[in-house]
Amino acid sequence: MLKEKMEKALNEQINKELFSSYLYLSMSAYSQTLGLPGVASWMKIQAQEELTHANKFFDYIHERNGKVTLTAIDAVDNEFGSVTNMFKKVLEHEQFVSESINKLVDISIELSDHATRSMLMWFVDEQVEEEASVQDILDQLAMVDAKGHGLFMIDKDLSTRTFVDNTQAK
Ligand SMILES: [Fe+2]
Ligand SMILES: [Fe+2]
Repeated sequence: MLKEKMEKALNEQINKELFSSYLYLSMSAYSQTLGLPGVASWMKIQAQEELTHANKFFDYIHERNGKVTLTAIDAVDNEFGSVTNMFKKVLEHEQFVSESINKLVDISIELSDHATRSMLMWFVDEQVEEEASVQDILDQLAMVDAKGHGLFMIDKDLSTRTFVDNTQAK
């Protein structure tokens, strides 16, 4: 059985993952207005991935006989400036989520909830990958000054991303 403090924090994380999905969906729409279909597709897959994260917490709470409580999802911005600016916001958001996951780990340790701590390790690793992949894109954008042929190629490259539900790996 999940302790109340842990259950509450995990429910809050479901909301954060759903907000993340909503944010990236909005960024996908905005990318279309920038004429970057590859980025738009990348963002849409990013949004799908966040849904799988929310689901992983959702299923875990039930597995531990806890109660899922869904609350209102905050509105998101609909304008994000330049493509570089938008990816900077993605990185900032992922850093915020990493912090949030770290706090969940802290709570699991405080409560000696080793099962939850073990489940959270998947997210700790996932956040390292998420931050690294976004940093990669930012580096590439900087290399080509986020314009012209270079930007065209980055957009083409990002269009090749496919959706994989890696929460099913373990
Ligand atoms: Fe996530
Ligand atoms: Fe994420």
